Amino acid sequence: MKKILIVNGSKRKKGNSYALEKYMAEKLSGKAEVVTFDVGEKDVRFCLACDACKKKEEPFCIQKDDFTALIPTIDKCDAMVILGPVHWSRFPAQLRAFLDRTYSFMNFRRPDLSMASRKDKKLAGYLCAGVGPAPVYLAALEEDLKCFAASGFTDYKAFVAGGVGVPGSVMENADYVKAADDMVDWLLA
Ligand SMILES: Cc1cc2nc3c(=O)[nH]c(=O)nc-3n(C[C@H](O)[C@H](O)[C@H](O)COP(=O)(O)O)c2cc1C
Repeated sequence: MKKILIVNGSKRKKGNSYALEKYMAEKLSGKAEVVTFDVGEKDVRFCLACDACKKKEEPFCIQKDDFTALIPTIDKCDAMVILGPVHWSRFPAQLRAFLDRTYSFMNFRRPDLSMASRKDKKLAGYLCAGVGPAPVYLAALEEDLKCFAASGFTDYKAFVAGGVGVPGSVMENADYVKAADDMVDWLLA
């Protein structure tokens, strides 16, 4: 069974990202081993930029927090799903902190810059935006997803649902639900 990690960057428990997390986890249930990691509820500190990880030959972080504890799961999973709101046209700060901490996988001595034990992992990014423009946010999201290549996620799919300012409303739009369904199918393929 595939191991899939769902990372949720929203602070709104009754919001869109949590609704998507529940929906996708249910769809994956029985078909994949799912681990959820709600960044806003975890102790994920800022990257210290101390470069302690740069002396290593495997993913490493000197900090003792929930991100460091998750490193083996990030490294060994088959796929990761990133869910969250758009905040000021980009990832919310919680997801930015999470992305920064994947610096712990980076190794400048290697041609592909990565200490990840697997470099063929899938990454699905699905953001919710109160208004839009969704195509502009999608381009920004794709740039952010590319940064996860250092942690071994080299194959990605991105989607942004615009016009979902009302908490939970993403699930009322058939196209947005289909985008989640398509992502689940792609993750399992
Ligand atoms: C601090 C903050 C910044 C936001 N910035 C944007 C933005 O730039 N563009 C946009 O369309 N919506 C913006 N929103 C609205 C959220 O993206 C929207 O409500 C989203 O559906 C929330 O997702 P969630 O319920 O999963 O947290 C912002 C909301 C907050 C709280």
